[in-house]
Amino acid sequence: METKHWQIDGAADLDQNPAIREAAALLREGHLVAFPTETVYGLGADATDPEAVASIYRAKGRPSDNPLIVHLADEQGLSEWVREIPESGRLLARRFWPGPLTLILPHRGNLAPQVTAGLPTVGVRVPSHPVALALLKNCGLPVAAPSANRSGKPSPTRAGHVWTDLGGRIDAILDGGVTGVGVESTVVDVTVNPPVLLRPGGVTLEMLGEVVGEVRVDPGLREEGESPRSPGMKYRHYAPGGEMWVITGEGEAQVSRIQRMADEAMQSGKKTGILCTEEHASRYRADWIVVCGTRSRPDTIARELYGALRRFDEVGAQWIAAEGFPPRGVLHSVMNRLSKAAEGRVIDSGRD
Ligand code: TXA
Ligand code: MG
Repeated sequence: METKHWQIDGAADLDQNPAIREAAALLREGHLVAFPTETVYGLGADATDPEAVASIYRAKGRPSDNPLIVHLADEQGLSEWVREIPESGRLLARRFWPGPLTLILPHRGNLAPQVTAGLPTVGVRVPSHPVALALLKNCGLPVAAPSANRSGKPSPTRAGHVWTDLGGRIDAILDGGVTGVGVESTVVDVTVNPPVLLRPGGVTLEMLGEVVGEVRVDPGLREEGESPRSPGMKYRHYAPGGEMWVITGEGEAQVSRIQRMADEAMQSGKKTGILCTEEHASRYRADWIVVCGTRSRPDTIARELYGALRRFDEVGAQWIAAEGFPPRGVLHSVMNRLSKAAEGRVIDSGRD
């Protein structure tokens, strides 16, 4: 299949943009279109069309028991698809939509069943990216969209990542440049009281707490061996091809532990990479040093994370050590993604 690539320049009058109108027409005809959101690129299809939704799973190679997020142009459209919106959901939607927050709500049964993988609930969000909003308004549909990567790869934060993973497998890519947040939306189950955080993301736990008071954290997010409530969290995700380790801890201890481990990997003949922040980049020796943001601006670490992980695949790194962080604010989601990429291989450099 030929994949169309449309560059969207500027934010002027996106509702009339010919590429966005054409992309909206493709969605209405049951085709697949990748588009930028403020978090990562999504792979969109008409959420009411079973065939279209099935083709998302095929294009991504995604397990069919992992439900998709439905994207809406505004909160007003919600009650058409959702049976009931609990008070906590209303408060969170009012505060964070449009934006990087997905609410789990009871659905009415009028979406394609594959969207929700047979669950009685659906994940819904109103994205804030101007291209995403213009596309949603133009097509007038609820759009099911997982991240636009091949299953098991880091989510795409630029159109080139989508092209690498899905070029030739989907109908079109709307190229809106680099996404802003860099990690996916926060997923919160508001069907229960207090609400439960299922996936940390662009909206932090601290920000949620300010709006609704108590928010529980799904035990499956914290403890090994607990089964996560969000189906997607149980898969190996965000994973580079090489064996990855995450090393947490303070300053010198972290740097010297990472270097020691990298030296051992190189001695054993492995092509070795180190993922670190700007502050420490000059301190390491390895085959590849990939810099990911600065500690003085944790949002830059989130923004550059997936691009940095992909870099190791591009060069064929066989062994990777990554700097870890205290899991606060946006770094909570960064640590969640890092530890998944490393399949739980997280070491505290303060201990032996
Ligand atoms: O930022 C984002 O959320 C991006 C952009 C494109 O919007 N989308 C995204 O979708 O990350 P995806 O499919 O890669 O992740 C959806 C997550 C999965 O972990 C899935 O299991 C969870 O949301 N999810 C969806 N519906 C759910 C439901 N009814 N109950 C629990 N978890 C659900
Ligand atoms: Mg994904």
